[in-house]
Amino acid sequence: MKQIILAAHFPGVNNTTVWSDPAAGSQIEFESFERLARTAERGRFDFFFLAEGLRLREQRGRIHDLDVVGRPDNVTVLGGLAAVTTHLGLTGTVNSTFNEPVDLARRIATLDHLSGGRAGWNVVTSWDAFTGENFRRGGYLDRADRYSRAEEVLQTVRELWDAWDADELVADPAAGRFTRHDWPGAYAHRGRHVDIEGHFPVPRSPQGRPIILQAGDSEQGREFAARSADAIFSRHGTLEAGKAFYADVKGRLAAYGRRPDELKILPASTFVLGDSEADAQERAHHIRRQQVSPQTAILLLEQLWNKDLSDLDPEGPLPPFDPVLDDDTIIKGRAGMYPDRLATAAQWRAIAEERKLGIRDLIIEVTGRQTFIGTPQRVAATLHEFVQSDAADGFILVPHVVPGGLDEFVDTVVPLLQERGALRTEYTTTTLRGHLGLAA
Ligand SMILES: Cc1cc2nc3c(=O)[nH]c(=O)nc-3n(C[C@H](O)[C@H](O)[C@H](O)COP(=O)(O)O)c2cc1C
Repeated sequence: MKQIILAAHFPGVNNTTVWSDPAAGSQIEFESFERLARTAERGRFDFFFLAEGLRLREQRGRIHDLDVVGRPDNVTVLGGLAAVTTHLGLTGTVNSTFNEPVDLARRIATLDHLSGGRAGWNVVTSWDAFTGENFRRGGYLDRADRYSRAEEVLQTVRELWDAWDADELVADPAAGRFTRHDWPGAYAHRGRHVDIEGHFPVPRSPQGRPIILQAGDSEQGREFAARSADAIFSRHGTLEAGKAFYADVKGRLAAYGRRPDELKILPASTFVLGDSEADAQERAHHIRRQQVSPQTAILLLEQLWNKDLSDLDPEGPLPPFDPVLDDDTIIKGRAGMYPDRLATAAQWRAIAEERKLGIRDLIIEVTGRQTFIGTPQRVAATLHEFVQSDAADGFILVPHVVPGGLDEFVDTVVPLLQERGALRTEYTTTTLRGHLGLAA
């Protein structure tokens, strides 16, 4: 029987997070991160996860402030969490397009030291020049080059992590030597995107090679994961889509001399629990209405229509005209959501007409229903079934409020998974690599 891998995503930056809920706390104070992390550790989760937003999204030329806006630096937050947790893996998204390998390697290796071997890095490339304007002097990497750079950056980071022998620090007063060799940490990488040499400043960390996650979904992204990642943060959260994605990606591993269990597939998943199925459905509907306020409904509709629709009534019908087909979208920082605007609009129209839905109710319906809804028994059974039927190896759970959004899951679903023998009752290893069952 496969064990379930569980991760806790501290949400934010989009309308999944309901900041307007009376139970919602700060998205930036350390106590919020600490509370969620401690809850995940109480539930014997594998790791804590932070996404990254490098530039505030804009819509109609303004900050998209109906979302949670703003996010502190991930690695710094994770460093703080290392001090208040003991076993939980600590993973964060950090962009490979806008950061330099030596700095990336140093920050993640430092986190691995501070946490005693619990660090993980989610390597993302970012899809748009808009984000790049915040960073690069001059040009932006082409789409194709983003992954060749990611590949080379990651390869270099691993070379840097490997630059120190595990037993390099001897601190021997008798011999008058601190390091075993005269030149510890020496490296040189000569490549197309990275051309550096020197001595890596951080001694080898407890995991040696901290865990690598990957989150891109394109052909290139999947190949990158198959070649180089330990886990994928995927968006394929339904049973059928999950199985197809799982088979696709696991099928790519052999070409790189890797076994299927060397890459873990972890879809982003939301959940709503209730005392009965009807209660859970009712709560799910209430949460969707919180997530999609009347103003948010119009903003989300604009993302497909690519046009200012602020004059429309959120409870009224869809616009009578078609979406604007222009590459220059009115939403910045969230590109490529709708590859075929006309087809999607036609689909939405059909649903709205058939079910007699106004804009807001339609948007609630078509943009992101929760992944798992039901009683704790039902949700535990479904998670288990997904893992056993190879739709996933586990889940990155995204609560809809912070910091208390995982409490109920940990109190009610976790014990049921533990009863089934699908989730550890105590940690049996101390490193993230160990928790995930990945070879050192
Ligand atoms: C599930 C998922 C989560 C992602 N999370 C982030 C994130 O937190 N920060 C970020 O900059 N990009 C994030 N990305 C974007 C990817 O890194 C990548 O830039 C984007 O998907 C384009 O690459 P692709 O064409 O391979 O999909 C995410 C992508 C996916 C599929």
